[in-house]
Amino acid sequence: MSSSGIGAAGMRRRSADRTSSEPESLGPHGPMVCAIRRTMKLNRLGRLGLNSPMRAFVQRHAVAPLSERLGGRVEGGRVLELGCGRGVGAEIILDCFRAAELDALDIDPDMVERAERRLAARRGARVAIGDATSINAPDGSFDAVFDFGAIHQMPDWPLALAEVSRVLKPGGRFFFEEVASPLLRWPLRFTVEGWPPPRAHPFSRDAFLTQLEKHGLDVGQRLADRRLLYLLTALSSGLAGDLVGVADLRARRMAR
Ligand SMILES: C[S@@+](CC[C@H](N)C(=O)[O-])C[C@H]1O[C@@H](n2cnc3c(N)ncnc32)[C@H](O)[C@@H]1O
Repeated sequence: MSSSGIGAAGMRRRSADRTSSEPESLGPHGPMVCAIRRTMKLNRLGRLGLNSPMRAFVQRHAVAPLSERLGGRVEGGRVLELGCGRGVGAEIILDCFRAAELDALDIDPDMVERAERRLAARRGARVAIGDATSINAPDGSFDAVFDFGAIHQMPDWPLALAEVSRVLKPGGRFFFEEVASPLLRWPLRFTVEGWPPPRAHPFSRDAFLTQLEKHGLDVGQRLADRRLLYLLTALSSGLAGDLVGVADLRARRMAR
C-alpha cells in the first residue's frame, strides 16, 4: 500500500496519531464533519453482518464474477472504490479485476483503519477517509469506479452518482452492487446509526437507474438477472445486493 501522505486521488490518508473519531476537513465542498453528520455509518449489527466471512464469500464468489461477466476487467487501470468498508472489495478489484492503482475511500475512520490493515502489503492501493458525495479528485481521474453495496447507505446518494460521473474518464465504467428492493431495504434501519436519514432521497431500483441515466451513465442491458440475485440474497441472509450492473460514462457528459 502507498505510504504517501496524500492519496493519488488527492484524498488525505488517515494520520496514525489522530485520535478524534471525526476526520479532519478533507472534502473540496466543505468540512468533512458536516459530511459525516449527513451520512449513516454502520452500527454494531451492521458491522457484524458486513464484516462477516459470509459477506466476503458472497462478494468474492458471486458478486465479483457477475460484475466481471457484465463489465470485464480493468486490467492496468486506475480505479476508485466508494464505501470500501474493511477492504475486501479493494482486494477483489486488485486480484480479480486486475487494477494497477486503487484509491479506496470510506467515511468511517474505523472501516478505513481495517482496510488499511488488510491492504498494508498491497502495491498500488491507497485507502483514505473520504466522502463519496464530495470526492476530492479532479474530473476524469479514473478508468472505473466500484460501489459494493455502499451508495444506498448515503442520504445524498444522487450526489454520489454525480461525483461518479465527474471523476470517471469518458468511457469509464461504473460497477455497482446495490440494495434496492423494499423487502431488503426495510431491515437496513437496524444496521445503521442515525436512522432515519436527515435528508433522504428515497432509494429504489428505478430511482437509481434514473439517476444513472441523468448523469450520463449508460447501463444498457448490463444488469444481472434479478431472480438469480434474489436467490443469492435469500441464501446469504441479505448479505448480497439485488441490483448488480455496470454502466459506461457516455463520452459527452450530461447536464447535472
Ligand atoms: C453497507 S457498507 C458496505 C461496505 C463494503 N463495501 C462491503 O461491501 O462490505 C457501506 C459502507 O459505506 C460507507 N459510507 C457510508 N456513507 C459514505 C459516504 N458518504 N462516503 C463514503 N463512504 C460511506 C460506510 O461507512 C460503510 O463502510
